[in-house]
Amino acid sequence: MSTATVEIPTHQHVLSFVGAPRKMLIGGRWLDAESGKTFPTYNPATGEVLAHVAEGNSIDVDKAVTAARKAFESGSWRTLSASERGRLIWKLADLLESHLEEFAQLESLDNGKPVGVARAADVPLAVDHFRYMAGWATKIEGNTIPLSVPYTPGARYHAYTLREPVGVVAQIIPWNFPLLMAAWKLGPALAAGCTIVLKPAEQTPLSALRLGELICEAGFPDGVVNIVPGYGETAGAALAAHPDVDKVAFTGSTEVGKLILRAAAGNLKKVSLELGGKSPNIVCSDADVEASIPGVSSAIFFNQGQCCCAGSRLFVEKGIFDKVVAGVAEDAKKIKVGPGMDLATQMGPLVSDEQQRRVLGYLESGFSEGAKAVVGGRKLGDKGYFVEPTVLVDTTQKMKIMQEEIFGPVVCAVPFTDVDEVLQAANDSIYGLAAAVWTRDVGKAHRIAAELRAGSVWINCYNIFDAALPFGGYKQSGWGREMGHNALELYTEVKAVTVRL
Ligand code: NAI
Ligand code: MG
Repeated sequence: MSTATVEIPTHQHVLSFVGAPRKMLIGGRWLDAESGKTFPTYNPATGEVLAHVAEGNSIDVDKAVTAARKAFESGSWRTLSASERGRLIWKLADLLESHLEEFAQLESLDNGKPVGVARAADVPLAVDHFRYMAGWATKIEGNTIPLSVPYTPGARYHAYTLREPVGVVAQIIPWNFPLLMAAWKLGPALAAGCTIVLKPAEQTPLSALRLGELICEAGFPDGVVNIVPGYGETAGAALAAHPDVDKVAFTGSTEVGKLILRAAAGNLKKVSLELGGKSPNIVCSDADVEASIPGVSSAIFFNQGQCCCAGSRLFVEKGIFDKVVAGVAEDAKKIKVGPGMDLATQMGPLVSDEQQRRVLGYLESGFSEGAKAVVGGRKLGDKGYFVEPTVLVDTTQKMKIMQEEIFGPVVCAVPFTDVDEVLQAANDSIYGLAAAVWTRDVGKAHRIAAELRAGSVWINCYNIFDAALPFGGYKQSGWGREMGHNALELYTEVKAVTVRL
């Protein structure tokens, strides 16, 4: 870990934001929890308390759902002209962009990620996502459908479909990209005309709450967006089970995804899930090896490895295995690990002591089953939640570290001899979120892309995200697709209207 840290001075607005207990947004007003309780969020670089936040429970959730229902039924949002909805979403994007530095710092302090990454990726991607979805508000269309109706010969009908907002939506998001996940969830729901109760992760509620202030400033009608911070087992569970919520959208662990599904069964609310991954990253010997090495490194080390699509299983063709592994290990050694607010930092701490323990537990389990670290493998420093960038070899398909999501800066490298073998191994997972292949052979690249059971496949690149590109999982990586026009399907119902002429 770099010792001489030069942290940037904290933005004045950030200081004042974390300096006061943050409230929850319900029906256009900032309220304390009914219980009066707050919970702390921590700076993962130091382990110190960063801010205190109102702790929502089932009573607050119920108030927020009532406010969202009132806003939905009143028509203040769903019957507003589509162009006006789009204009407000665009305005939110502009406001967010004008506060880029503040949001980048808030994200770095709450989550641990390097502020430079938040400036270059998290905040601009969130801005772009709102803009992209603002454009969709005016483009949500139905179809006209020619009918034949054999049992009413001679009769004529005019039939069409409408796409209508699904209603009151609960959105439960994780801590790895707190602002961006809020944008992925809010953008399409707002474009479709839904009203929302958003629950940010307890580890990282701050950027969503600050975004709530911009939502008020932009002029969204009261109750369209409600934000209830709190813990998963209380606020999250109450939202997922609430009988007056029409749809729940969740990003997080596969384990909690299954709980959400069960909770949703009570009123059969619609469910979309974006869950874990164990994504294979395949490097063939005919790849541009020099280009693939940094690609493979960033696929696993970006965001401290806390990405649902992290390239955590590295399959390298035998002839170049040693070279690629040595290259990735060399990259890992060079990564500057330190506090997110230091501009020299390339990798920050993990989000929490719980996450650090989880990742260290996986490393221990890997070592006990025979895996070896080429580099890394330990925790780093005595304060904050740092873990060394780690490359493991001698890993086998059956090991826990090859099957389960580690969600830390740990990659398992495995050699392969032919395409059929590597496809079989790559697809041998309960997950199917993302995958990548590195090769100069175009035909082979597309053949492999077609055979991989994953929602995203990258060829000669990794972690390329765009608001226009759908994202989501096969198998136990989830249900539904976010981003792109596909996201609108999650937030709309189709109504078929038939007129006898
Ligand atoms: P989690 O799934 O518990 O948390 C995600 C969100 O769900 C948070 O907002 C949390 O408050 C909420 N939640 C938790 N329990 C809930 C419940 N019973 N009902 C409703 N909402 C609930 O994830 P956690 O515990 O923070 O991390 C555990 C593992 O999950 C990570 O190590 C990683 O493998 C995976 N994960 C995957 C993410 C992804 O992007 N797909 C993001 C975060 C974690
Ligand atoms: Mg959990």
